[in-house]
Amino acid sequence: MPGRTCLAIVLAAGEGTRMRSLMPKVLHQLGGCSVLAHVVKAARAAGTDELAVVVGPGQETVAAEARERAPQVQIFEQHERRGTAHAVLSARKAIAHGADDILVMFGDTPLVQTETLSKLRGALAQGAAVAVLGFKPVNPEGYGRLVMHDRELMAIREERDATPEERKIGLCNGGLMALAGEQALAILARIGNTNAKGEYYLTDAVAIARDMGLKAVAIETSEDDVRGINTKVQLAEAEAVLQRRLRLAALEAGVTMTAPDTVYLSADTKFGKDVTIEPSVVIGPGVTIEDGATIRSFSHLEGAHVGKGARVGPFARLRPGADLGKDVHIGNFVEVKEAKIEAGAKANHLAYIGDARVGEGANVGAGTITCNYDGVAKHRTDIGKGAFIGSNSALVAPVKIGDGAYIGAGTVVTKDVPAGALAIARAKQTVKEGWAKRLRKVKALGKNLSGKKPKKSS
Ligand code: UD1
Ligand code: MG
Repeated sequence: MPGRTCLAIVLAAGEGTRMRSLMPKVLHQLGGCSVLAHVVKAARAAGTDELAVVVGPGQETVAAEARERAPQVQIFEQHERRGTAHAVLSARKAIAHGADDILVMFGDTPLVQTETLSKLRGALAQGAAVAVLGFKPVNPEGYGRLVMHDRELMAIREERDATPEERKIGLCNGGLMALAGEQALAILARIGNTNAKGEYYLTDAVAIARDMGLKAVAIETSEDDVRGINTKVQLAEAEAVLQRRLRLAALEAGVTMTAPDTVYLSADTKFGKDVTIEPSVVIGPGVTIEDGATIRSFSHLEGAHVGKGARVGPFARLRPGADLGKDVHIGNFVEVKEAKIEAGAKANHLAYIGDARVGEGANVGAGTITCNYDGVAKHRTDIGKGAFIGSNSALVAPVKIGDGAYIGAGTVVTKDVPAGALAIARAKQTVKEGWAKRLRKVKALGKNLSGKKPKKSS
């Protein structure tokens, strides 16, 4: 909103009791990051200058997550859970800084879109002192109802306090609210706790603003926008909504997906042009896939970078720090972790490449393992440009294979191999002519002696 300053207050006090979890509700994962991270991201995208997060007593993990997502965040503790207005007032100091717009957001309502927050702020810019989000849920049970008169918002009635007549209202309160900074403290100070729950309800701000001669408005939005998360069922429902949005955005950005419903994305997944994702792929947080790359079915990626034109899978696993260059091929049952695979290098089948560099154009044969862990520490493997690693080789790190070197199949490499050399370390093969025939004869004789009839050969 040009020319107007904004403070967002995120209410995040509360445990994960209904989630049947020891972890605070807002730290549960949604699309590859915490529920709280989504709220913080939405707040920042709506152009907030200041961000305050209200946490419960001792909720250091929630504060830490907020700081990680927004280093400038101000953390306030609500010492006792006494209602949404009380929680907002825990951030009184931040409100007193005098921002033009105050956005009150719920830490457990992560799907709110930037445009929706902008609409709330827009209502303030047009002179409203309070703006709330209305929505028409399939089942309004439990929600506050918006009491309208001649298209004007008169009050919000919490369900417990509503008359049977008011309970019939289909337009409900989405919870999030925008308050004009100039009047916010005066409005909040007037909110009392004489209601069914004995709590300080933020929703009372509407009737109070009207009493003060100020304007209150409702902006209608979709149920998905204000979907709150209290249980694992609701978490899964929110995930479904988010995945749908992420897939749609990816398709619209030009990603090809033949079965988008089977592809799981993260909120921070980045795609280049002409990327193809085959069915049943899981993309965790921190993944970038560049132009023309293809991710084939049943692959799992997280914290990975896939270079231009690279091919991954089917059945590949890219773990954090996997960095694939241009036109790299990573095939079935290959796991890559903390490793730079340079342009044109290939590992097409059954390999583990961890804590390594694979030089440009190198070929890593089936069954190759970088033995990066000695039981105490991790060590690096460095494979030079154009090297050829024969099948079933064990590269015992720390070890260096020079440019263009050959490693014979089945070799256990424990010493550095110079550029252009061949390293081979396996027992020499011996051939004993006729040995198998003789063995079978002796075995057959043994069976006869034990009284069994020899089988007739056909
Ligand atoms: C609230 C609204 C209701 C609306 C619904 C939408 C109020 C009084 N009611 O009800 O009109 O329909 O959201 O989902 O606002 N919180 C604190 N400290 C407190 C109390 C709450 O931080 O003392 C936080 C919670 O962690 C949560 C948010 O505020 O993130 C909303 O509180 P909650 O108890 O879920 O309110 P509802 O009963 O759902
Ligand atoms: Mg709620």
